[in-house]
Amino acid sequence: MSKENKIIYGNRIYLRKMTESDAPFIVEWRNDPEIKKWMFNQEELTIEKHLEWYKKQNASKRIDYIICETKNNQCIGTVNFINIEGSQAEAGKMLGNKNYWGGGYAKEAFRLWLNHGFDNLKFKKIIVRTMINNIPNIKLNEKLGFKTKEKTIIKQSDKEYPVFIMEIEKKDLK
Ligand SMILES: CC(C)(COP(=O)(O)OP(=O)(O)OC[C@H]1O[C@@H](n2cnc3c(N)ncnc32)[C@H](O)[C@@H]1OP(=O)(O)O)[C@@H](O)C(=O)NCCC(=O)NCCS
Repeated sequence: MSKENKIIYGNRIYLRKMTESDAPFIVEWRNDPEIKKWMFNQEELTIEKHLEWYKKQNASKRIDYIICETKNNQCIGTVNFINIEGSQAEAGKMLGNKNYWGGGYAKEAFRLWLNHGFDNLKFKKIIVRTMINNIPNIKLNEKLGFKTKEKTIIKQSDKEYPVFIMEIEKKDLK
């Protein structure tokens, strides 16, 4: 198994590569209004659209993993690295199964994912872009050591989203 495909074990969760068979619950999560409202792409997804997107992805530019809860072996969310350029990447996360919100699972998963980025993928800097009113996400990022560097606007499909660009280096990961 290449290092890009290995399972990453945490305490209550593990991370594994996303596959085509994950499509049904990813589409369900992404279409949930409470999740979709934080995404820059507001398009309603279908399994067909998702798979079309999935097959087009360039593995050198983005990596998508699934967060699985160990005890019940249940898929509960996703993490990714996108816009990979040399030693920098942008990270994202989504806890799709809302039963797990507020339980520290996202923090554990994202910390594990960032460690993977720094230690195995050798990133020197990881950024996140978050809507400025996504308080749970901003707080989680800050707790892991991210610092807000810039406020900007993202334009997507005629909409404008005010965002914070936050960043972290390995030495600052808590
Ligand atoms: C953002 C998201 C991953 C956070 O998940 P979560 O289950 O709340 O996260 P955790 O339980 O791991 O909490 C992590 C930390 O964030 C903080 N936090 C979470 N929700 C908070 C809230 N509503 N207000 C303030 N702080 C909050 C907590 O203090 C917690 O730290 P602690 O464990 O030391 O107390 C989840 O809400 C989600 O998937 N949202 C939809 C998708 C999304 O917004 N993704 C990110 C933007 S692309």
